[in-house]
Amino acid sequence: MKAPLALLAELTHRCPLRCPYCSNPVELTRASAELTTEEWARVFMEAAALGCLQVHLSGGEPTARRDIVAITAAARDAGLYTNLITAGVLLDAVLMARLVAAGLDHVQLSVQDAEPAGAERIGGMKGAQARKEAAARMVREAGLPLTLNAVVHRQNLHNLPLLIDTALEWGAARLEVAHVQYYGWALANRDALLPTRAQLDDATRIVTAAREAHRGRLVIDYVVPDYHAARPKACMGGWGNNFLAVSPAGRVLPCHAAESIAGMVFPNVRETSLREAWEESEAFNRFRGTGWMPAPCRGCAHAERDWGGCRCQAFALLGDAAATDPACALSPHHAMLADAVAEAGAADFRYRAFG
Ligand code: SF4
Ligand code: FES
Repeated sequence: MKAPLALLAELTHRCPLRCPYCSNPVELTRASAELTTEEWARVFMEAAALGCLQVHLSGGEPTARRDIVAITAAARDAGLYTNLITAGVLLDAVLMARLVAAGLDHVQLSVQDAEPAGAERIGGMKGAQARKEAAARMVREAGLPLTLNAVVHRQNLHNLPLLIDTALEWGAARLEVAHVQYYGWALANRDALLPTRAQLDDATRIVTAAREAHRGRLVIDYVVPDYHAARPKACMGGWGNNFLAVSPAGRVLPCHAAESIAGMVFPNVRETSLREAWEESEAFNRFRGTGWMPAPCRGCAHAERDWGGCRCQAFALLGDAAATDPACALSPHHAMLADAVAEAGAADFRYRAFG
């Protein structure tokens, strides 16, 4: 069994933004149930002992936690490379300086669109874009590397060239152009978000050209939506293979969306060590490797490349997390994805909200 390379620390589900494709579960954890600073410090130590090299401090919005500086320092004390995944709207110069002093290594800033009106409609927060631009400036002035994360979909893909310009103007060294993945809130908003085939093809052309044009200045990562694909993505690099997440309430997850799979029970850091969760828990071993696979995955030449695709998507679309991901053309249910694309179109957002 390999060691996990990265820990996704979901510090809180609280967030001032309300993005309709949020990867948090539809049922959000309230602040009173969140792990304490001390509990997170223990989790970081256990993660490092297990072999983790880096921690992504995420949410929700991680800076919504008053102890974000102490949490960052604890991660650094554990010897982990620290990446803050933030919407940037709560960052100010004082907090930035304290985070740098605590040992923060990298910032990943989300941007919902290149134009403020579109960005603020998608994120559901007025004034957010100017605060994000200011946050990008503070990160750069602090001397930290900046990655911009742009989640793209039917309602902002027309602005992809402008999003690339934004990354250059804001001084990002890396831009993630990530098509929405459809679980949780995103699945609830699928009709409003799914791109057309023409939009996807345009986006792929634009990214390919921009990679060439900005070589040496901007690295562009590109995550495609598998609703238009013939083979699924190797979700999480394989279940329980090199990644683990801890939810705000302490549940240890093989994938950030795993709580969407009804009936699965996940270990909790309040009762179980991270090592025990990783090595021995039923939740991590259930879909590890290839032994669990049904036909047509069993014996398929791609089994150790895509690991049968995404368990959360199989559950969300088929009600069976052990089924072949319907994103695979060999799945008997593959046509349902093309049907969803055909049905997508004008629809209002259902915004992320507590309660
Ligand atoms: Fe991947 Fe399974 Fe499809 Fe083979 S049948 S390509 S292993 S999802
Ligand atoms: Fe959970 Fe793919 S999102 S396994």
